[in-house]
Amino acid sequence: MDTAIVKKQAVEELALIEKAGDLALFEKKYLSKQGLIADIFKTLKDLPENKRKATGQQANKLKQELELLLKEKELRLVDAGKMAKESGKDFFDETQPGVMPEVGYLHLITQTQRQAESIFRGMGFELALGPEVETEWYNFDALNVAKDHPARDLQDTFWLKSCKSQFPISNFQFPNKEQKSNPQAQKLLLRTHTSSVQIRYMQSHQPPFRIIAPGRVFRNEATDQRHEAQFYQIEGLMVEKNISAANFKAIIEEFLSRYFEEKVEIRLRPGYFPFVEPGFEIDAKRSNGKWMELMGAGMVHPNVFKAVGIKGFTGFAFGCGLERLAMIKHNIPDLRFFYQSDLRFIKQF
Ligand code: FA5
Repeated sequence: MDTAIVKKQAVEELALIEKAGDLALFEKKYLSKQGLIADIFKTLKDLPENKRKATGQQANKLKQELELLLKEKELRLVDAGKMAKESGKDFFDETQPGVMPEVGYLHLITQTQRQAESIFRGMGFELALGPEVETEWYNFDALNVAKDHPARDLQDTFWLKSCKSQFPISNFQFPNKEQKSNPQAQKLLLRTHTSSVQIRYMQSHQPPFRIIAPGRVFRNEATDQRHEAQFYQIEGLMVEKNISAANFKAIIEEFLSRYFEEKVEIRLRPGYFPFVEPGFEIDAKRSNGKWMELMGAGMVHPNVFKAVGIKGFTGFAFGCGLERLAMIKHNIPDLRFFYQSDLRFIKQF
C-alpha cells in the first residue's frame, strides 16, 4: 500500500472527526498493530531491496505524523468542550432552554388564614394578636374556666416549667387583685386556644369593636385525622350594644359562603364553653356526606366581661379551626398532611 495514499486518506478522515470516540476508531484503523501502517511494515519483506528501505522510512515518518496529528486533534476537541459534552461533565450548552429556579409560595394554612382575614376585614373586623406562651389567667381564669376544669389537666395542656424572664407579661394589665399582686408568678402554658386574645384585647379597648385573632394553638392530645397537637385557629369577637345570636349567625354565614365560594351545608348545635352563654358548635358537611366540626361559638359570658371590666354591652365570640376550613374547601382527608412537609401535598395548593 502506498504511504502517500494512506496519508491523504488519514488526514481527510481526521479533519472530519468531532467526537472522542471516533478518535479511538481512527487510532485503531491507522496506528494499531492491526492498522494500515502496520500492514505497510508487514509488506516490507516482499518489496525489492532498493524500495524496502525508503518505504520503511516513509511508513515510520507517516506513523509519527499521524500520532502527532491525533494528539493535536484530541487537544482541540478538549478545548472546544466537545469531549466534556460526551462524558456529560461540566458542559454548558447555551442552546438549551434554561431551568426555571423554584419559587417559594405560601403554605395552605397561611393562604387560608389570609383569606379568612381578608373576608373578615371586609366585614369591619380588625386584626388582634396575642402571645403563644400565655398565662393560666388569660388562657383559663379570665375566660371563666373553673379551677378544676379538665382542660387544665396536664393531659390537655402543655404547661411550661419556668421562663418568667423571657416573657414580658408585666406589660399587660391584670385587673384581678390576685393577679395584680404578682403577675410574674402566673403559671405559664402554651395557649390552648386563641380565646386568650379576646381577654387581652378587651382589657385595653373599649367597645364597640369587632376583632379577629388568628394564630397557633397547642394541645397535649393524641393526633388523628382531625386532630393535631399543634394547629391554627381564628378567633372572632364582636362587642356592641344589643348584639344577639342572630348577628352571629348572619356574620358567620356570610363568612362561610364567601370563604367556600359555593353552597356548603352547615348546622348549628348547642355546645358548652365556660366563656359563652349560650354556646354553639358549628359543623360543615364534607363531600363524603359526613359532618365535621368547624368552630365553637356563643354569646360572651357575663363573667368574662366582668374579668375585663366591661359593662352594658353584649357580644358574640367564635373560635374556628383553620385546617378544618381548608380541609372542607379542598377536600383534604387528613389534617396531619398539613404538617408532614411533603412537597407532593404542599405543591397542590
Ligand atoms: C375552642 O377552642 C374555643 N376556644 C372556641 C370558642 C371561641 C368557643 C369563642 C366559644 C367562643 P374547641 O376546642 O372546640 O373550642 O376548638 C375550636 C375549633 O378548633 C374546633 O371546632 C376545631 O375546628 C378546631 N380544633 C379543636 N381541636 C383541634 C385539634 N386538636 N386539631 C385541629 N383542630 C382542632
